[in-house]
Amino acid sequence: MLYDKWHNQVVKRVGPVSEFQLYVRTLILGLVLFALSYWYITWLKTPNPLNKAVADTSIILIGLSMLLSSLCYFWNFVDTKIVYRKQLGLMGLAFGLVHIGLSFSTVQKLFTFAMWQQGKMWPALTGALAVGIFACMAFVSNQYAANVLGGKAWRKILRTGYIAVLLIFAHVYLLKSVYIIRWYTGGMKTPPSTSLLVLAFMTIVIVMRIALWWSLKIKSARS
Ligand code: HEM
Repeated sequence: MLYDKWHNQVVKRVGPVSEFQLYVRTLILGLVLFALSYWYITWLKTPNPLNKAVADTSIILIGLSMLLSSLCYFWNFVDTKIVYRKQLGLMGLAFGLVHIGLSFSTVQKLFTFAMWQQGKMWPALTGALAVGIFACMAFVSNQYAANVLGGKAWRKILRTGYIAVLLIFAHVYLLKSVYIIRWYTGGMKTPPSTSLLVLAFMTIVIVMRIALWWSLKIKSARS
């Protein structure tokens, strides 16, 4: 079935629901994720729980927004949740902006010559590039932009989100791999850090997208 036709059927099944309701429910989900992440980080006695929990909430919301396409393609248990895709992405970006505000000292360093000279700009630069991509996606996530750009170009722009997820993967890996490797070689005596959990989550998002791409490729070769 064509995507647009399937989408319209799902929207009908969901029934009347306003954009405002979708945003409120997504915000509640974001706050629940934030609370869980904050509690877990505090329980692990890891420093700076506020910024970490905000950052984790951001990438989980954005990741869920992207994961919905593949989940809905392979299974039908979350079909009706597809209507939250835009709100999940925008709310995730909002949490990301708060995270950037809380990481202001790192943002400032990105504009210093020393950071570039020493080659230490990559963790912040990957984050900043990802924000740029998420912001472009947010900018075009409306019907007007879809009409002006045309469906094909519009979908292509929204797919750059997967590049941004890869950039965030690099961002977290560059910042946290030392601690993750230390934890692993130390015999994993504590539960995994949130950074390791979000790296695993991002891997699932990317693997599911590759599976979707592969499945569509096989389907079109057969027809
Ligand atoms: C939407 C864009 C971004 C997302 C989704 C994101 C996501 C993340 C995640 C998931 C972590 C790991 C948190 C944890 O340890 O549990 C992190 C850490 C961090 N990020 Fe970002 N990030 C983004 C952009 C940026 C930018 C632009 C900067 C600065 C230029 C930045 C600076 C930092 C810093 C300093 C940490 C370490 C925080 C700490 O350990 O206390 N991030 N980020």
